[in-house]
Amino acid sequence: MAARIIDGKAIAAEMRQELAERVAVLKGRGIVPGLGVLLVGDDPASRSYVTAKEKACAKIGIYSDERRLPADSGMDEILRVVQAFNRDERIHGVLVQLPLPEPGMEREVLAAIDPAKDVDGFHPLNAGRLMLGLPGFLPCTPHGILQMLKRSGIVIEGAHVVIVGRSNIVGRPLAVLLSRKWELGNATVTVCHTRTRDLGTYTRQADILVAAAGRPEMIGAEMVREGAVVVDVGVNRVADSTRPKGYRLVGDVDFEAVKVKAAAITPVPGGVGPMTITMLLYNTVEAAEKSVTG
Ligand code: GUN
Repeated sequence: MAARIIDGKAIAAEMRQELAERVAVLKGRGIVPGLGVLLVGDDPASRSYVTAKEKACAKIGIYSDERRLPADSGMDEILRVVQAFNRDERIHGVLVQLPLPEPGMEREVLAAIDPAKDVDGFHPLNAGRLMLGLPGFLPCTPHGILQMLKRSGIVIEGAHVVIVGRSNIVGRPLAVLLSRKWELGNATVTVCHTRTRDLGTYTRQADILVAAAGRPEMIGAEMVREGAVVVDVGVNRVADSTRPKGYRLVGDVDFEAVKVKAAAITPVPGGVGPMTITMLLYNTVEAAEKSVTG
C-alpha cells in the first residue's frame, strides 16, 4: 500500500488564509498584530527558522521586529530585549528562538516573557495551564500536528498514539494535549524516548506514530505497523555534496521505506514545519485580538 502524503504546506496555506482575514479585521480597527523575535547567536538552522517565521508574518500582514544578539551575550542583555518587547504596545507576541547558545539560560529567559505575549507557550504559567486544560497559548508544533491530523480527517479519539521524544517543545506537551478530554484529544498515549528498551515493541502498536527525537531516519519500516499514520517532526541536516547547500533535510523517519507501509505520512520538508509556523501566526493573531477584547 502506498501511503497518502499529508500535505502540511497545503493545510498551512488554508489556515493562513483564515488568519489573513482576521488580520484584516484587526487592521480595520487600527491594530496591526506584532511579533517580537529574538535570535541569540548564529546557528544556521535557527537563523533559517527565524527568517521563515518573519516571511510568514509579512505575508499575512503581521508586523515583526527581529533583534539579534551575539552568541556570547549575557543574561542581562537578553533580558533587556525581552523586557523591551514586553513593554512595547506594538508587540503582541514574543518569541525567543531556541536553543540558546547557553542552554542553562533558557529557563530564566522563558520565564521573563510576559505570559500574555508568550506565543510559543513555553512560559511556566502557560505550560501549567496546558497541563490543567485551562485556556492559554498552545505550543506551536504540538498544536500544528493536531490541526493537521484533524484537517486530514484522521480520527484521534480512541487511537493509540505513540510519541518518540519527550522534549518540552514537542513530545511532552503533545502527550498532554492528546490525552486531554477535548475535540483534538481522547487518545491513548505512550511516550517513548532514548532510554526506552526495545523501542519497536511500542512503535509497532501505534495507530498514529509521532517521531520527534531529532535523530535522522531512526524510524525504519520494521518499526511501523501496516496501515499506521506516521507524523515526522524531525528536521535534520545531513551532508550531501550533490546539493547546492551541501546538505539535505531528512526527518526522523526513513520516508521511502515507511511510505509503502503506512496509511498516511507527513513529508520532510512540507509536513509539520509549515504547520508549526502557522500556529505561531495563529497565537500572534489571538494575542492581538485579546489585546482589544481583554
Ligand atoms: N526551536 C525549535 N522549535 C522551536 C519553537 O517552536 N519555538 C522556538 N522559540 N524555538 C524553537
